[in-house]
Amino acid sequence: MRLSDCHNFQDFRKLAKKRLPGPIFNYIDGAADDEVTYRRNTEAYESCDLVPNVLAGVENVDMSVEVMGQKLDMPIYCAPTALQRLFHHDGERAVARAATKYGTMFGVSSLATVTVEEIAQIANTPKMFQFYFHKDRGLNDALLERAREANFEVMALTVDTITGGNRERDLRTGFTSPPKLTLGSLMSFAMHPMWAWNFYTKPKFDMPHLSGYVSEGTNVAVSVGNYFSTMLDQSMNWKDAEELCAKWNGQFALKGIMSVEDAKRAVDIGCTGIMVSNHGGRQLDGSRSPFDQLAEIVDAVGDKIDVICEGGIQRGTHVLKALSVGAKACSGGRLYLYALAAAGQPGVERALGNLRTEIERDMKLMGITSLDQLSRENLRFRETAC
Ligand code: LAC
Repeated sequence: MRLSDCHNFQDFRKLAKKRLPGPIFNYIDGAADDEVTYRRNTEAYESCDLVPNVLAGVENVDMSVEVMGQKLDMPIYCAPTALQRLFHHDGERAVARAATKYGTMFGVSSLATVTVEEIAQIANTPKMFQFYFHKDRGLNDALLERAREANFEVMALTVDTITGGNRERDLRTGFTSPPKLTLGSLMSFAMHPMWAWNFYTKPKFDMPHLSGYVSEGTNVAVSVGNYFSTMLDQSMNWKDAEELCAKWNGQFALKGIMSVEDAKRAVDIGCTGIMVSNHGGRQLDGSRSPFDQLAEIVDAVGDKIDVICEGGIQRGTHVLKALSVGAKACSGGRLYLYALAAAGQPGVERALGNLRTEIERDMKLMGITSLDQLSRENLRFRETAC
């Protein structure tokens, strides 16, 4: 199987599985507990159907959107994800270049493996920084200032990782950051010599935003679940979020909002956006999918704040469904991470290109020339959601 054989999300997933040592593939691919929420995140899009119009003159379509003050050439962007140099030696550099090519936003995690300064040099596309609220207040201040200095346009505070999710695949494989050398992991590296060669011959693995403050994750091997549980501040509350929002004093989102009550509070503390998200099913298994929960949140706050639908998206039609309900844009992690692991920058470019082509085709088939022509009129739900 080659990159040219990758036509959709599942194809990239298959190729990533071939290229990556088992523990690393399973870190991306896995989720919490029984992974019910992870599966539901995508299945939710199948509980409703699009109703197209025809004869609409669709030779030119415009799929640009504006979200949190940023003009994006396509309505889906790369959600921030951690540890990308574990998946491909170019890591965030590859994703930043691909996002720039497609004129869409690129999210950079606090747990990134390339600096915000370097990303700022590479990407002239809008950039979001994903903030994890640590116990170490000096680290928190440094993260905010570094992102500001690097001219990141959007700050997103992650609010759904107050403790680590129960990722049983990671427990089974012993996945840590940095990867621990055990008999099992050595065997999986030996079976993927190209990955191992790149990982061990390229500049040393680092999480440069954190390593000046904490050793966990760079010099001390920990699982991501443990990192969340021990390094992040479990006392984080609405006052902290409000203070951070005021300190940033710009486009500010809460990432991981699922209830109407919290969405309203996000408006009250001055946020300009929220990501309706359950962290890709990696935190609270059994929680509702973002798409299922989208309508009630849009109804409550959609006229006051930009609502972004994040998680489970594998197809252009999924994006059109979320926008029909009222999301301003969509985002996803695995949809470009498998592609990054499969083939680096060309992989991510192909994944974004495939999605762009699908969205354009789907818009034409829906009989629309711009995304603001979508509404709930285009959708029919098959059964009443619980
Ligand atoms: C995860 C974090 C790091 O879900 O976003 O693994």
